[in-house]
Amino acid sequence: MSKKIGILTSGGDCAGLNAVIRAVVHSADQKGWEVIGILDGTAGLLKEEPDARKLTSREFDGTVMRMGGTILGTTNKGDPFHFPMPDGTFKDRTGEIIANYKKLGLDAVVGIGGDGSHAILRKLAQVGGVPMVGIPKTIDNDIGETENSVGFDTAVSVATEALDRLQPTAASHDRVMILEVMGRDAGHIALATGIAGGADVILVPEIGYDLEKIAEKIQKVKAGGRNFALVVVSEAVKKPDGEPFWVTHADGQKRYGGIGNYLGEQIAKITGSEARVTVLGHVQRGAQPTYNDRLLASAFGVKAVQLIEEGKFDRMVAWKNREVVDVSIEDAIAAYQEVDPNSTLVKTARGLGISLGD
Ligand code: F6P
Repeated sequence: MSKKIGILTSGGDCAGLNAVIRAVVHSADQKGWEVIGILDGTAGLLKEEPDARKLTSREFDGTVMRMGGTILGTTNKGDPFHFPMPDGTFKDRTGEIIANYKKLGLDAVVGIGGDGSHAILRKLAQVGGVPMVGIPKTIDNDIGETENSVGFDTAVSVATEALDRLQPTAASHDRVMILEVMGRDAGHIALATGIAGGADVILVPEIGYDLEKIAEKIQKVKAGGRNFALVVVSEAVKKPDGEPFWVTHADGQKRYGGIGNYLGEQIAKITGSEARVTVLGHVQRGAQPTYNDRLLASAFGVKAVQLIEEGKFDRMVAWKNREVVDVSIEDAIAAYQEVDPNSTLVKTARGLGISLGD
């Protein structure tokens, strides 16, 4: 039976989103279904008329899957259950979204998002009676019940390449190079990048650190005859007193930022080394997706369409033991995935002699 399915990207963008959209459209096309792309996430449903357009296989001619960003647009603000209004009040605007879902006449919605987006989209699906299937994406790789989320591999590749570029200039100038990477609350990007990029110190929010221990490691590297050191730090690492480093942007939004500069000053002060700081920021999100992210995106997209066909809703596609599977969205949101201090990668880092600051 023919179906009409909606698809939207929600939350911060990342590499691989277009490859997911392509996979869903191609897979639905095989079944003769119609796909409607909802623009700008839930913001596209908060208009008088739904901001949406038909997506066809023809549009995905081979260029789109290679592109970073999302052709549908996205939003990472404005929880419709508690929507900030211009007068400073908050309003429940879910009725408007559900009315627009209904106007589109959708049989199901594919929501591509992180844990926050999955929580909101799930609630909307329940209240509005629009069945949903979720696809996990986030460079932070912190969604539970899946080993990988779309966008993580590309972000780590970009950050590793940054370390590759920092190493020769660090060696040329006898410097300590500090690379601050993203990862709102989880240190997966920092950990993977630090191992892949040959860092001497990796700091993640899940493991406490001592500045003296970091200094000791750097002195040891120098005593061993190497004239430079590489440090990778996750943006979510706090000051030793537990205070987080925030930046408040002009639009009033608070984001992590500042730990890299703090570390640079402290390391220079304690070790007497020259230190420089690079804050990688959004370049981790805007790259062309790696082959791994394209594979994950393709497997997730095809599986999502299969779940809709089978009538399996309130499920999120996931990657486990080299297979694409489906898990309950509720479980995925509940099982936030931070860096486990006993994990293989933490043990690997320690085994390589990398300091985790503790
Ligand atoms: O959650 C993804 C993420 O890129 C985090 O790693 C980062 O802290 C945050 O989003 C940045 O958000 P924004 O794009 O709003 O600055």
